[in-house]
Amino acid sequence: MDLDKKYHFLLRKLHSLTGIVPIGVFLIEHLLTNSMAFQGPEEFNRDVRFLHGLPYLFFLELFGIFLPIAFHAAYGVKIALTAEPNASVYPYLANWRYTLQRVTGYVALVFIVIHLFKFRFAHVIGWGPPFIHEGNDYFEITRKGLMEWRPFGLVVPAGWTLAFYVLGLSASVFHFCNGIWSFCVSWGITIGERAQRRVGLAATALGLFLMVWGMLSLTAFATAKPGVSRAVAHGVAPGQAPSSTGTGP
Ligand code: HEM
Repeated sequence: MDLDKKYHFLLRKLHSLTGIVPIGVFLIEHLLTNSMAFQGPEEFNRDVRFLHGLPYLFFLELFGIFLPIAFHAAYGVKIALTAEPNASVYPYLANWRYTLQRVTGYVALVFIVIHLFKFRFAHVIGWGPPFIHEGNDYFEITRKGLMEWRPFGLVVPAGWTLAFYVLGLSASVFHFCNGIWSFCVSWGITIGERAQRRVGLAATALGLFLMVWGMLSLTAFATAKPGVSRAVAHGVAPGQAPSSTGTGP
């Protein structure tokens, strides 16, 4: 039995909804927390520790993040594979957005998988210590993961890792914000042209905010001195910081 044929309408709606809630909401929260790195290592570590202390974290992550992303991505690839891009024949803005929504979906998928293995599941594939662990210096682990990435002993230049993160961030933010616009159209929230233009402006403003938050955190990690968070916590110079931060992903 072809489940997609039988439940096509429901699956399309569920795909559309999961893009906003919970995935989109999580994206906003995630970029906001990361931007705390710009305030300082202590602020970043405090916020990450707070999140890891949430009750039922396993279920929150499973049902609030991993399963919705897995469903949205899997069904998204199915939709994208049957896409009929016509932007090169009819180069209208709407056609470009249709094509870009699918392209950024693929980029976001590759980015999210690598990002998860790099930080959240690094210990599973031997890329580093468990990220969620009491007493961890999250700032230093993240800084190392970005600036000194050594997957399976391979030395990745910091510039490449940062460029990969800028690409993944831009793709995810564009995909989400362009998706807000198409979500509002497909759910009948914005019917008239004026309403659609307004939502377009609001989604663009949100996209700019999210890009700034993301770039702030990348800048904070890229410019931090090695071991600076331990140094701040212990009141010593960065070079003399204790090295109990693990090897980093
Ligand atoms: C950062 C994570 C992601 C977020 C926040 C997100 C969010 C969204 C949103 C809000 C929509 C609009 C829904 C609508 O048009 O009704 C959407 C659509 C779409 N997403 Fe995602 N998405 C993410 C990841 C992915 C991934 C990894 C894929 C896999 C390729 C994907 C593929 C698609 C496709 C193909 C559409 C268009 C559906 C259509 O036009 O009917 N998305 N996404």
